[in-house]
Amino acid sequence: MSNSDEARNIFRHEGQVDRENRERANRHKGLTLWFTGLSGSGKSTVSVALEERLHALGCATYRLDGDNVRTGLNRDLGFTPEDRIENIRRIGEVARLFRDAGIINLVAFISPYRQDRQMARALSDRGDFVEVFVDCALDVCESRDPKGLYKKARAGAIPNFTGISAPYEPPENPEVHLRTDTQSLDDCVEAVLGHLVEKGYIDQSLID
Ligand code: ADX
Repeated sequence: MSNSDEARNIFRHEGQVDRENRERANRHKGLTLWFTGLSGSGKSTVSVALEERLHALGCATYRLDGDNVRTGLNRDLGFTPEDRIENIRRIGEVARLFRDAGIINLVAFISPYRQDRQMARALSDRGDFVEVFVDCALDVCESRDPKGLYKKARAGAIPNFTGISAPYEPPENPEVHLRTDTQSLDDCVEAVLGHLVEKGYIDQSLID
């Protein structure tokens, strides 16, 4: 039995306003900036600062991260491999909706598995998915330990903790590679912004 939408009696109803209309109104393309990296690597810090910068430039933005997703939409999910896959699958779908809305969405999750990030990227058909590797040595993340979780994980109090008792698969070909253990926050923000201008996602005139 086919699992197609039609077989399930589901039919898409097109509206009168489409993605191009929305992008014209916003004066930039819909785009996903997918930040991936260890806990404490700086994903939230960089994405918050970058969103502030993009907003000041007049871009329509929205940030997705643990605070607004794991406490709501994904409240039912934990940190087993299966739950992390489902976490990223749902976030990938939400990111797709935001692209369709013509919004620059900044997505900050550990997203430890290469295959899941690839699944999220595969939902994009226009090269509007930019993977940003927020790279930082584990011992530096652990020394930052902003939430005290590495300490707990080392003590065995948190199972499946990424980098300690669960894997992190670094991206092989990220569009942007940041090193938060050696680059300043400003440099990281400018590196992502520079990529967006270079690739024509954002018009240079917006920045000048
Ligand atoms: S992901 O692996 O499914 O992408 P996600 O980014 O949503 O993870 O959540 C990671 C955050 O949840 C961490 O920054 C940390 O605050 C918290 N957390 C709680 N338990 C774990 C765990 N076992 N592994 C990693 N992070 C955890």
